[in-house]
Amino acid sequence: MDSLDTLARWRTAQIAGVLVIALLALAAPLRAAEDDQIIRKEAWSFTGPFGIYDRAQLQRGFLVYQEVCASCHGMHYLHYRNLSEAGGPEFPEAAAKVVAASVEVEDGPDDQGEMYMRPGRLSDAFVSPFQNDQEARVANNGALPPDLSLMAKARPDGVNYLYSMLTGYADAPADVSMAEGMYYNTAFAGHQIAMPPPLFDDSIEYTDGTPPTIDNYAKDVTAFMMWAAEPKLEERHRVGFRVMIYLIIVAGLLYVAKRRVWSRGAH
Ligand code: HEC
Repeated sequence: MDSLDTLARWRTAQIAGVLVIALLALAAPLRAAEDDQIIRKEAWSFTGPFGIYDRAQLQRGFLVYQEVCASCHGMHYLHYRNLSEAGGPEFPEAAAKVVAASVEVEDGPDDQGEMYMRPGRLSDAFVSPFQNDQEARVANNGALPPDLSLMAKARPDGVNYLYSMLTGYADAPADVSMAEGMYYNTAFAGHQIAMPPPLFDDSIEYTDGTPPTIDNYAKDVTAFMMWAAEPKLEERHRVGFRVMIYLIIVAGLLYVAKRRVWSRGAH
């Protein structure tokens, strides 16, 4: 093998390398918010090109949502059946039915033209705690608790932000004067949030041995919000991986073709 040949090989390897790195960079999460918001980075099971959701974590996260957040926040893009579908928390279908049946859903009109309430079914969307934004504001001191279905995608560095915000409550520094009904939070933009601290150690019972701490509650409910916002993430990662393999094969074939063409030209 002559040195030109080795050089060409190097070049091709370099190009393939750059391609792969570029692809990995595309899959990397966005950069964190700039100003003085304190954003803690967590190691999530679902980040990176091979990331997948941790089923047990999604189940715990749903529990946290259901027991705490659902009294103020809806997740109206989710349906009860999603709780037992592949790729999500994968609760047994019977459990998802029980969750659905625990809420009242408006249906109708019946034969008399009246709307009526009935227990929820798997095909129903998650029921929101308030009828409309006005009612939600009245119950929350004028602040609106946003729907959480897409929240993990709606903020820069979504999951790290959500986790940091949920664990970011602290006493306000002496030089900060807090507005009425606001809480100091190190991750929230402006540091004054209208949401009272929702999580406390030992407030929700975990049955799988995970320590019942604010930190774990925050992590788990954040993972749950991520799945809600991106239920097809695992599928996307699988496709991405196949595309990478495909590109590597194409790069190899191009290299072989190039060598053939150039060696013919040399005679
Ligand atoms: C007592 C009602 C209440 C509960 C319970 C509650 N929230 Fe909130 N939440 C609010 C209100 C009100 C706001 C709006 C805050 C603001 O705009 O200052 C809010 C805002 C948020 C936001 C948006 C923050 C942003 O960047 O704009 C997220 C995310 C959130 N809550 C998540 C949660 C999660 C997760 C839980 C459960 C662990 C939860 N909330 C429990 C009332 C609540």
